[in-house]
Amino acid sequence: MTRRQLLSLLLNGAWVGGLGVLSWQLVDWITSRIRWQLRKVRVASLRDVIQHEAGVIVQNGQRVMFLRWDGRMVLALDLRCTHGNCTLRYDAASRQLFCPCHGGVFDRDGNVVAGPPTTPLHRLPTRVEVDAVYVLDES
Ligand code: FES
Repeated sequence: MTRRQLLSLLLNGAWVGGLGVLSWQLVDWITSRIRWQLRKVRVASLRDVIQHEAGVIVQNGQRVMFLRWDGRMVLALDLRCTHGNCTLRYDAASRQLFCPCHGGVFDRDGNVVAGPPTTPLHRLPTRVEVDAVYVLDES
């Protein structure tokens, strides 16, 4: 094999590899868009979330969520305690989420403030379309 043939082979391989990566990213982007369209659930209006600066609690079926506007986007937290799945209660005055079962405390970003939980709350993927806030139904 000549140097020219080797260089040509390497360049063709790089092109094919690059096209493969681009194709994979395109397929991933398309499937994520389709997944969102099929499984998105409207949970609130953006206006309501922004107006309630302290945050709002919404329920969709069995799932209870805490939504708040952080100035750039809507943050959605699953209100199941990461210690034992009890539903948290929100105290707007202290801006903390309290677990009635064993006293776990979380801040408005879902971080653990006091135990026994050691894992932050699960953040739900959100999207805003026009004035509606959607979360991805992960069930
Ligand atoms: S279930 Fe929440 S602290 Fe145990």
